[in-house]
Amino acid sequence: MRVVEDIKEMQSIAASAREDDKKIVFIPTMGYLHEGHTGLLKRGRKLGDLLLMSIFVNTIQFGPAEDYKTYPIDIETDIKHAEKAGVDVLFHPDKDKIYPEGYQTFVEVRHLQRNLCGLFRPGHFVGVATIVLKLLNIVRPHIAIFGEKDYQQLVVIRRMISDLNLGIDLLSFPIVREHDGLAASSRNSYLTPRERKSAASIYKALCKGHELFEDGEREVRHIINGVRRILEKEHLVSVEYVKICDLDTLEDIYDIDRIALLAIAAKIGRVRLIDNLILVSS
Ligand code: PAF
Repeated sequence: MRVVEDIKEMQSIAASAREDDKKIVFIPTMGYLHEGHTGLLKRGRKLGDLLLMSIFVNTIQFGPAEDYKTYPIDIETDIKHAEKAGVDVLFHPDKDKIYPEGYQTFVEVRHLQRNLCGLFRPGHFVGVATIVLKLLNIVRPHIAIFGEKDYQQLVVIRRMISDLNLGIDLLSFPIVREHDGLAASSRNSYLTPRERKSAASIYKALCKGHELFEDGEREVRHIINGVRRILEKEHLVSVEYVKICDLDTLEDIYDIDRIALLAIAAKIGRVRLIDNLILVSS
């Protein structure tokens, strides 16, 4: 596996792969790899000839009061995981090369960024869309892969790829969960043992929502109340939102008359976690 820090070197590796008719699969990450990432890498490995992964903790997607400065980093362990998962090239650029002095271009996917996490993290999706477009421009992959835990991110990026005619296939894969259902996330590493226990209530709450839906409940406020009741039993959990939205527009819905997204954001102590589940009639 090659570890590349230089943007031009990365561009030339990708360009020669394309000239050789190699299919490039790209997985962007912020590192501190967990099973969710390695699952994506293993799937990506099977889909193309050149598997590229980036690790870049993207300053501009963090708000001023968020965890950029303490975001977990362990590049040596990440390199081992990436190598094991069959990554060919790990792109690990420097912040000053990605955002040099004078940098001033940002990408806004207007409506899709507004609901859900966009309500609580102003500017976050501009930061995400900007870095993802930059990385896609550097790598110019055939396929880009994202996880479904960050569902709003996935929808925003899908729209951006389509709106800007990037001609890249976007694939997504389901959330990877720990033994008690907690969605794999780099931020889980911040949790104390007590918080980690409480964090399992997020998945429990999603399952409650699913159960109510399966039992025939279609009124969103009743499902949301049931979900909130589970979360509110845990005193370490403070709910940011529980929402049910249209899967494509991410607009709130009030009666479930189509496939819908049940999404939660909550703080466990100081750690903000998100998770979701799709409600589909069986
Ligand atoms: O999901 C992430 O890890 C990040 O938001 C991404 C897509 C790598 C952009 O920084």
